[in-house]
Amino acid sequence: MVKAWLFGCFLLTGIGSFAQTEPALIPVPVEARYSAGSFSLPAMLNISFDAGIADKSFLLQQMGSKLTRIAGIELKETPSDQAQLQFKLTKAAASLSPESYQLSINEKGILIEAPSSAGLFYGVQTLWQLLPPAIESKSRVANMNWSLPYCSIKDAPRVGWRGLMLDVARHFFTKEQVKDFIDHMAAYKYNRLHLHLTDDQGWRIEIKALPKLTEVGAFRGERTGRWGEFGKQDPKEPKTYGGYYTQEDIKELLAYAAERHISILPEIDIPGHSMALLAAYPDLSCTPGTAYQVNGGDRFMHWPGGGKFYSDIDNNLCPANERVYALLDTIFTEIAALFPMEYIHMGGDETYKGWWEKSAAIKDLMKREKLKDMHEVQSYFVKRVGKIIASKGKKMMGWDEIMEGGLASGAGVMSWQGEKGGIAASKMKHPVVMSPNSYTYVDLYQGDPLAEPPTYGMLRLKKTYEFNPVPAGADPAYVLGGQANLWSERLHTVRHAEYMLWPRAFAVAESVWSPQQKKDWNSFVQRIETHFKRFDQAGINYSTSMYDPILSVRTVKDTAVEVSMQTEVPNLNIHYSFDEFPPDNFYPEYKSPIVFPAGASTLRVQTYRQGKPIGRLMILPLAELKKRIRK
Ligand code: ACM
Repeated sequence: MVKAWLFGCFLLTGIGSFAQTEPALIPVPVEARYSAGSFSLPAMLNISFDAGIADKSFLLQQMGSKLTRIAGIELKETPSDQAQLQFKLTKAAASLSPESYQLSINEKGILIEAPSSAGLFYGVQTLWQLLPPAIESKSRVANMNWSLPYCSIKDAPRVGWRGLMLDVARHFFTKEQVKDFIDHMAAYKYNRLHLHLTDDQGWRIEIKALPKLTEVGAFRGERTGRWGEFGKQDPKEPKTYGGYYTQEDIKELLAYAAERHISILPEIDIPGHSMALLAAYPDLSCTPGTAYQVNGGDRFMHWPGGGKFYSDIDNNLCPANERVYALLDTIFTEIAALFPMEYIHMGGDETYKGWWEKSAAIKDLMKREKLKDMHEVQSYFVKRVGKIIASKGKKMMGWDEIMEGGLASGAGVMSWQGEKGGIAASKMKHPVVMSPNSYTYVDLYQGDPLAEPPTYGMLRLKKTYEFNPVPAGADPAYVLGGQANLWSERLHTVRHAEYMLWPRAFAVAESVWSPQQKKDWNSFVQRIETHFKRFDQAGINYSTSMYDPILSVRTVKDTAVEVSMQTEVPNLNIHYSFDEFPPDNFYPEYKSPIVFPAGASTLRVQTYRQGKPIGRLMILPLAELKKRIRK
């Protein structure tokens, strides 16, 4: 039995000497003990539920969706003394996290115990990961021995807020696509879905009292290609790209997420990022007469460097216009009634103040309210929005720019410009969610730009894995948790979104769930391999960029171009060529920095493991590499 199980693991990983002796759980549990033997699921599995398990029928449906539909195992509810799978509610001890669970598997069967439905649900997510990847298949898998290793697992999350943000404004994702996203989150024990519902490129939520927001704001001209380089829209061109969620859609998503123990945080991004709103209500900016359209991906914001930015069009709401606050009151009334989450996110990021500086209305406001600079103007706006949100019985959260000019009382801060804002806000006793772009911005490059779809910045998997949601210097009592953000400017499809998300969202999942001392990079990259196999079965896309070499380039002896390479995953061999032929593992192996020989114009590299290609063939023109040389 033991041998059979170890052999199963060998097949699971399929990587020779990398075979693991423990199942590849992500996030890694607080405590897991494995013992010899495995429990084979019978053709008819008896299941029992303690009285008081509120979502018994949902758990049964979840079990059936894999065990019956995929493994062909029938389920029968029985008393606990006849059950091979028992769900038990434990007494919630004060010391026990409500999301904790225990899972034990031995010759008698499977026991999942938890103080809450959430804990039971997480126990089930771990159970799936103990089964072979084929359990993730979309159709019935015949002739499998579905067996589970004997184990005793005790597990609980490190932090309470384990979030993923999905930007549905830049590109629209349908309700069904969001449900899939929720399923994938739940499998890795995420529990907060932050929906970025509005931006310059789209307004994605029905506000019943303001139908123009979606009639006008949810649609734009259709474009494909490289984001930021699209031509301007003709005002008369058909606005065929877009979409929005009706309030019924939102209710359906909320219910779907709640069953999976995920709360949804709505974000209405103001006062900047408001072009879609302004397309519907053009007189609410401080720049009257601007011909607004929903932005279709032509570049109007510029980032010359040093953290500076400016916009060609005023995309801000006007803090000096009372009708802005009346409109926001209407919007937040409906948002607050719809979403049960205690927080509403009001954005607050990247507001270019140059337009306000030119506005007579803003000058009057500053005089009246004794505001000394644009930060205080923004702070005045944010505080008024905070009051509106509070009047609806909710707390306000915003990006860390809301700290500029004075933080509104009680406001939650989502720290995206690194960790410093979050650290400072926690010390000021404000609730904080850490989502620093330096660790959790999963829209950035994860591999060499010459091998990746175009984006900006760089965030390799290893750096993501170093994410610590409670960084040194922060007051842990005020850190709600951590979050990864998936901005969607360039993500035209779910395939691309998934590619950016995975495996970096594995790294964030482990960072927000597992104890810091349990994290181990080498173990993590091995475990990922099994999850790639699970995703292959499930038809979910992911990136293998972590296997590609990381290049650095410099000139030596004034003119020669030297390339150094390393890999973030251990035990890979890099082979290379300068002769235009794709290097196989008989080609030279990289050992130390190489210099472009005379006449060569392209370097080709590929990583191999045990003689098998594992990274992508990277084609690296000399002319492109030269651009990376620091002058
Ligand atoms: C942000 O990335 N602008 C929050």
